[in-house]
Amino acid sequence: MSTNLQSAAVRAHANIALVKYWGKRDAALNLPAVGSLSITLEALATETQVRFDPNLAEDDISLNGERSEKAARRISKTLDLLRDQTQISTKALVVSRNNFPTAAGLASSASGFAALVSAAAQALDLSVSDARLSEWARRGSGSAARSIFGGFVDMAHGVAVDGSDSIARPLHEASHWPLEVVIAITSEASKKVGSTVGMDHTMATSPYYSAWVDGAEADLAAARSAITARDFDALAQVSEYSCLKMHASALAAHPGVLYWNAATTNGIHTVRELRQQGVPVFFTIDAGPQLKAVCEPSATAQVKAALAAMPGVQRVITTAMGPGVTRIEDFA
Ligand code: DP6
Repeated sequence: MSTNLQSAAVRAHANIALVKYWGKRDAALNLPAVGSLSITLEALATETQVRFDPNLAEDDISLNGERSEKAARRISKTLDLLRDQTQISTKALVVSRNNFPTAAGLASSASGFAALVSAAAQALDLSVSDARLSEWARRGSGSAARSIFGGFVDMAHGVAVDGSDSIARPLHEASHWPLEVVIAITSEASKKVGSTVGMDHTMATSPYYSAWVDGAEADLAAARSAITARDFDALAQVSEYSCLKMHASALAAHPGVLYWNAATTNGIHTVRELRQQGVPVFFTIDAGPQLKAVCEPSATAQVKAALAAMPGVQRVITTAMGPGVTRIEDFA
């Protein structure tokens, strides 16, 4: 078989959770303790090419033009899932790049692993369902299971011991309710405590962790109903609630994990003041200091201006909701 036939490239988009994933029910299979609900983001993309090459002795992995041993181990382990499926041992050349800051709380692992498993499956000509791709992406990073799909995405914690039902599914297409997101970048530095370490530490030491897990199903139900009804205020309430509870559980860990800086906190106040004035906007924050303001498109310009004017905000990125994984033919 020509090596050409064993090569494919795809684009996957980052996502942000409105109802958060934080904590695992199984570390080895990377099974989430709670379900989550996200929107996929158009402007934040990872492009990845995977080429299986019998001449390689090891996987050859480059991320944004650099080689990282830690990332490479996680990527090789994920590729092994697909190699096991096809009973091949051929190593792969992986070239991947993001168009946004890596590891700064902008979910680069989500788009990264979704792109990786999709490109690898296409390179190997595997006809697998999106559900299976979501399962493999989850093994790389929990939030990546959601980036297989576009629009509003619902991720189940699942109950199966083998994790086959810990997968995401599309809830609504973006056209159902095309929200927009303004991301205030308050630091371009790599985060000090990654999400995997942060959530493990929360599970192990936070007295609020069990309360966090107990509340998740109700939050998911409220978010699904709000989205189906396009009820902005209801979605704002439950999203901020889920976000603040996630961070509260991490803050109560021992020692506490605090992802915010001063600009993050000021951004919360700015967003809430805007909403009080009738502007349809709410905030969410992940395992990093960036503030994500989700709004109706009619409010995007005003939200962008307000966040960009805040001290400590280095730049803002505005994005619509985006699609699931797509193939690219002209990866260069
Ligand atoms: C705060 O998916 O990065 O962004 O499964 O350990 O790789 P691992 O964690 P990861 O965690 C994401 C946490 C979050 C919330 C979310 O995206 O749901």
